[in-house]
Amino acid sequence: MHGNKSTVEDVDVMESLFVFALIWSVGASIIDGDRPRFDQFVKQLSQKTLVNVAGKNKLPKDETLFDYYFDLIKRMPMQWTPWSKQVTEYVPPQPFEFSKVIVSTIDTVRNRYFLHHLTQSGNNILFVGESGTAKTNTIQNYLLHIDREKYSAVNINFSSRTTSLNVQKTLMDNIEKRGPVWSPLNGKKLLVFVDDLNMPQVDTYGTQQPIALLKFLTERNMMYEREGDLEAIHTKSLFWIAAMLPPGRGRNYVDPRFVSLFATFNVIFPSKDSLLRIYSSILKCHTEQFNGEVQMAASQLTPMTMSFYQSITERLPPTPSKFHYCNEAASLLTHKQKKKGLCQSLPSKYTTSSSFVRLWRNEILRVFGDRMNVQEDKDLLEKNLLPALLQQFFNTDPTLQTSVLKTPILFGSFEQNNSDTIAMYQDLKDYSNVKMVFEEVLRKYNLENNGNKIRLVLFEDALEHIVRIHRILKLPRGNALLVGVGGSGKQSLTKLATFCCNYDLFEIKLTRNYCEHDFREDLKKLYQKLGTGKDCTFLFTDAQVATSRFWN
Ligand SMILES: Nc1ncnc2c1ncn2[C@@H]1O[C@H](COP(=O)(O)OP(=O)(O)OP(=O)(O)O)[C@@H](O)[C@H]1O
Ligand SMILES: [Mg+2]
Repeated sequence: MHGNKSTVEDVDVMESLFVFALIWSVGASIIDGDRPRFDQFVKQLSQKTLVNVAGKNKLPKDETLFDYYFDLIKRMPMQWTPWSKQVTEYVPPQPFEFSKVIVSTIDTVRNRYFLHHLTQSGNNILFVGESGTAKTNTIQNYLLHIDREKYSAVNINFSSRTTSLNVQKTLMDNIEKRGPVWSPLNGKKLLVFVDDLNMPQVDTYGTQQPIALLKFLTERNMMYEREGDLEAIHTKSLFWIAAMLPPGRGRNYVDPRFVSLFATFNVIFPSKDSLLRIYSSILKCHTEQFNGEVQMAASQLTPMTMSFYQSITERLPPTPSKFHYCNEAASLLTHKQKKKGLCQSLPSKYTTSSSFVRLWRNEILRVFGDRMNVQEDKDLLEKNLLPALLQQFFNTDPTLQTSVLKTPILFGSFEQNNSDTIAMYQDLKDYSNVKMVFEEVLRKYNLENNGNKIRLVLFEDALEHIVRIHRILKLPRGNALLVGVGGSGKQSLTKLATFCCNYDLFEIKLTRNYCEHDFREDLKKLYQKLGTGKDCTFLFTDAQVATSRFWN
């Protein structure tokens, strides 16, 4: 399985290898709930002794075979080893970029192991898993660290608008003709990562054209020219890594004959322990420079957030009118949004546990509360927060309660002419402070945009909204979807927040017959602007969606 060609003569090793291969071939696509049953079945078939500490010829009793691998390389004598042995300490990415954070867990090491060994041995690999199981992250992270001497990589993101021609063009840009065969540039092997594989539209004949092309290419290593003489293009050294959401629930099924060309793995959602490990590692690392009191509070916040999250998702599940409420599967993303906020804090601004816990409360209210569209639900959220805080903090130090629960709760980074935004994410304490800042911003805006003045009365609700929008615009990769009745100031507040961030505002202008082509041209202009290093807010309203194709 991993290209180690040395002969194995030990029967026990052979048998163990067979069991390992069985688990990760037949069993690899089995969903989480059925894994224990499959494990029991294989253990029974193998007739091996079950023990507490697994060895060469003995299988683990209390854990499943999915939690172990047969270590043929590092361990002498070869033996069954828990994946957890490979889990390493969290190291933040350098330079720190939140989207690149990946904390080593059983799932990530396991997925990496298969990515490595299967691509090395020339197999195609497909990860199927719910949103937030880090499919994209794990694969991209793996591709970042491949041996660049031997491999190059290309990323293709499928959407419902992807056509087979798009795919072919991307591939052709990455291969060149050498003799009769097309091969990757510079004589390397090419790893093609196709993300969201099942997204392309299903046509009248039940086919997804990009997938039909890939099937042809994977199976026969050839495709045809699209113009000219329609000559055959023979390829070599192309290897495929793909990821997709499980089919069903509105997602497309992919041709099973195509899937059969891949080693398919069901990527499971991280266990509670893994989740705890992910969040606490990120927060622990972030608060290393903070004083002891804050570090202590931070260590208590992660388990608290998790149980809080569970109780709130049970009480406020998504429903048709509240489809945007969180569900279990989205938890990693939601938690990460919150951590993103916490990671904006700097030691100089947060010197006491109360200030840090207050920041945490703000992030909870922003990430969970801001999406709630009924006051009742917002109240429930606050009500649920209290017992958790009481139990962890207020009972031991009642003075904390007043400072943490004080309203209004407004956090942001507003000092202007200072490019170091992280340094400024802080408690703004009062409406009057925020009002002062924004009245000044509004005055400046109107001076600069004489013909296009914004007339706004900055009452308290408007201030709260603008602080929220501003907070999101300042977060790396921050996107906001503002939902509200017409005239509630969504656009004006966004314009003002953008001006306050010192970003440019980019909007499309709908004209008669504005079509997808115009939209693409506009997007090109946006990218050119971004290329100059200028930060931009892309303001896009529902009235500008001339066709739903714009979404893709
Ligand atoms: N072990 C981990 N360490 C750090 N972050 C993680 C880990 N696992 C998942 N995440 C985070 O969860 C989020 C989702 O990851 P990612 O986008 O890769 O998921 P996905 O499976 O590709 O989801 P989708 O199907 O929606 O594209 C990311 O923010 C990712 O960083
Ligand atoms: Mg993804």
